[in-house]
Amino acid sequence: MARFTLPRDLYHGKGALEALKSFEGKRAIICVGGGSMKKFGFLDRAIAYLKEAGMEVQLFEGIEPDPSVETVMKGAQAMIDFQPDWIIAMGGGSPIDAAKAMWIKYEYPDITFEEMCKVFGIPALRKKAKFCAISSTSGTATEVTAFSIITDYAKGIKYPIADFEITPDVAIVDPDLAETMPKKLVAHTGMDAMTHAIEAYVSTANCDYTDPLAIFAIKMIESDLVASYNGDMAKRDSMHNAQCLAGMAFSNALLGIVHSMAHKTGAAFADYGAHIIHGAANAMYLPKVIAFNAKNLTARKRYGVIADYMGICNKSDSDAKKVQALIAYLRKMNDDLNIPHCIKNYGADSYPCEQGFVPEDVFLARLHDIAVNAIGDACTGSNPRKPTVEEMEKLLKCCYYDTEVDF
Ligand SMILES: NC(=O)c1ccc[n+]([C@@H]2O[C@H](COP(=O)([O-])OP(=O)(O)OC[C@H]3O[C@@H](n4cnc5c(N)ncnc54)[C@H](O)[C@@H]3O)[C@@H](O)[C@H]2O)c1
Ligand SMILES: [Zn+2]
Repeated sequence: MARFTLPRDLYHGKGALEALKSFEGKRAIICVGGGSMKKFGFLDRAIAYLKEAGMEVQLFEGIEPDPSVETVMKGAQAMIDFQPDWIIAMGGGSPIDAAKAMWIKYEYPDITFEEMCKVFGIPALRKKAKFCAISSTSGTATEVTAFSIITDYAKGIKYPIADFEITPDVAIVDPDLAETMPKKLVAHTGMDAMTHAIEAYVSTANCDYTDPLAIFAIKMIESDLVASYNGDMAKRDSMHNAQCLAGMAFSNALLGIVHSMAHKTGAAFADYGAHIIHGAANAMYLPKVIAFNAKNLTARKRYGVIADYMGICNKSDSDAKKVQALIAYLRKMNDDLNIPHCIKNYGADSYPCEQGFVPEDVFLARLHDIAVNAIGDACTGSNPRKPTVEEMEKLLKCCYYDTEVDF
């Protein structure tokens, strides 16, 4: 038996934020990040709508990008003190993910972070509060997913919390919020969405319910992302939907080792002054992982279907040739979006450069541990080809040097 879970309600289209007016409850806590929602007026509007609905409103502000376990614990305490019956998380993936983890701790104050990370091990929520997610970036689709990514900075590792219990009750997908994104954020979050859709389509957990969402999202992202990056606001709006469709697919079909590798490299070099931003990591690793996974015949066929559907190859081409076309197309997208092809060329500002912020000797010294951690990541289980630690090390090396995957 398989399960397919989505939010009970999804409000979409320009002005959808107004849906908050119709919420019923006594107290709502709004969780936001560093200030973009306030700056662009969306926070004030959300507060006004909730007050119009008769609710007392409290804010939990300042959730950092790639939120920490400490922030989760602090937010949960604020919820325990305020006793909200609605948790409204607004912003990018970071504040929404943090709020999901806070929600678990609010409902079960004794639960530890380690217990939260047990895959599909969260006890029943919604005894104290319901959850609404309002996304302002077009990538993570956390507004519809069963995932939350929290970083343990002591270990330098991102941990996915995965359970349908944390799939929000309500998602608001209002493209107005995405229009204020700076270009770099459009690029990174957009390639995150592309990776979600492609990994979901070839995942071993794909099914008839997830495939149409994944493949249609891929086609939309192909048509919309670069133009959105270059300032086309109609395409920006469309990308907000595309990333959400990709999220519906991967929340139910799961992901693969592009994400395992991104999770385990993201904060691994933070002591050298930067993170490898999630979407950029995915964008760099995706072509390498496609080459690796395509050794599996089922995956190769599925990548071929993607290339066909995108219209980037001849229908009569061999699957191997279609895979090459897909890899070439994705690399061209990276060029168009000013994303480097490998960690070696990944600058601290995320742009391509001759020598990036991760020194070669440091990368090689940490390679084995990163490979072991990546294999152990929750996303590895649904990847179409199971890598050994040695293969994962080789794959990560290809992602560092931008060398060909021929194993
Ligand atoms: N839960 C999931 O299913 C899932 C999936 C993929 C990634 N993630 C996680 O999500 C996080 C990344 O989230 P993200 O890419 O959405 O970015 P983010 O939430 O980390 O935000 C990045 C920056 O963009 C700013 N910002 C957000 N929206 C804006 C807007 N509309 N206009 C201007 N500035 C804006 C924020 O203030 C912040 O400084 C990572 O921790 C990643 O691991 C989660
Ligand atoms: Zn992702």
